[in-house]
Amino acid sequence: MNVALSSVACMNTSRIALVTGANQGLGRALVEGLASRMNPDDLVLLTGRNHQRVKDAAREVTQLPGARARVEGRVLDVTDTDAIARLADELGGRYGGADVVISNAVARLLPEESQAERADEFIDVSNTATHAILRSLGPALRPRGRLLVVASRFGTLGHLDPRLHHLFDGANLEQVEYAVESWRRAIHTRNAEEAGWPRWLNVPSKVAQVAAVRAIAAERREHDLATGTLIASVCPGMVDTATSRPWFSDYSQAQSPSQAADAVLDLVFADPVDPALYGELVRFGKALPWLDGTPPVEQDRMLTP
Ligand SMILES: NC(=O)c1ccc[n+]([C@@H]2O[C@H](COP(=O)([O-])OP(=O)(O)OC[C@H]3O[C@@H](n4cnc5c(N)ncnc54)[C@H](OP(=O)(O)O)[C@@H]3O)[C@@H](O)[C@H]2O)c1
Repeated sequence: MNVALSSVACMNTSRIALVTGANQGLGRALVEGLASRMNPDDLVLLTGRNHQRVKDAAREVTQLPGARARVEGRVLDVTDTDAIARLADELGGRYGGADVVISNAVARLLPEESQAERADEFIDVSNTATHAILRSLGPALRPRGRLLVVASRFGTLGHLDPRLHHLFDGANLEQVEYAVESWRRAIHTRNAEEAGWPRWLNVPSKVAQVAAVRAIAAERREHDLATGTLIASVCPGMVDTATSRPWFSDYSQAQSPSQAADAVLDLVFADPVDPALYGELVRFGKALPWLDGTPPVEQDRMLTP
């Protein structure tokens, strides 16, 4: 449900939104949508790792006819977890926290690259960063705030080999971190496949993101629902971006980034928070059951985001 923009507001009149990996792709479309749905007094931080790309993207979004809220570019390399903590402190000190946080960044992998050789960067950008964002920006979320982690439909536990389920099912954040580091070590020692980890990094990475959100949500659920606050992971569906394009031969079903951003932003601006979506992996407004999915066979990985 779309509602008046004030529904995400807290006691302060102006609101702060932050999107990571936002200089292109879905992240940029999320910033564009936030800028058009929020108020002129509100501030959207478009963050990314490269100064020039961030600056250019922020300027271009600001010039869009539908942009209402202020958009500011900020360099935030999400692999720098200290920088995430500093930004959370700054938002707390200057604005009393953040109203919308969307953890979206991903490291681009190409089909011809060795997944194992890119594992450290991929895990750092998607997982270590998600843990840092949940730890630092979770507590900075203002009442009625929204913290969303962009995962994918591969984020449900059933996509992993059953031997690995116990690592993530019902895990707290420390246990999810331990599982992610075990996976990383197994890749380095070449034991990953023997232990049941798929070669395709995206599956364990997305399951771990959803598990991390579930862990934090379990701790905060009662308080958040009482204050109209939402923490969840989201599946945007198939989106035509530079990251996904090399993996698909048929793009007829793909959404544009702005189409995909719309469904995510409908969740951001939905009021009141639907308790059935709290802490869950949400796809087009519906929670995907945590235990759903089957481990993908190698050839399927090319076909489904
Ligand atoms: N596209 C799909 O079909 C699809 C499907 C399901 C889920 N998703 C998820 O949607 C999200 C966005 O994906 P996308 O397709 O929009 O990818 P994208 O167009 O490649 O955008 C990825 C963004 O992440 C940024 N990034 C990479 N490393 C970073 C770092 N260390 N610090 C900060 N930012 C960093 C990139 O910055 P640079 O420009 O500097 O590289 C870029 O802005 C991801 O979480 C992805 O897994 C996508």
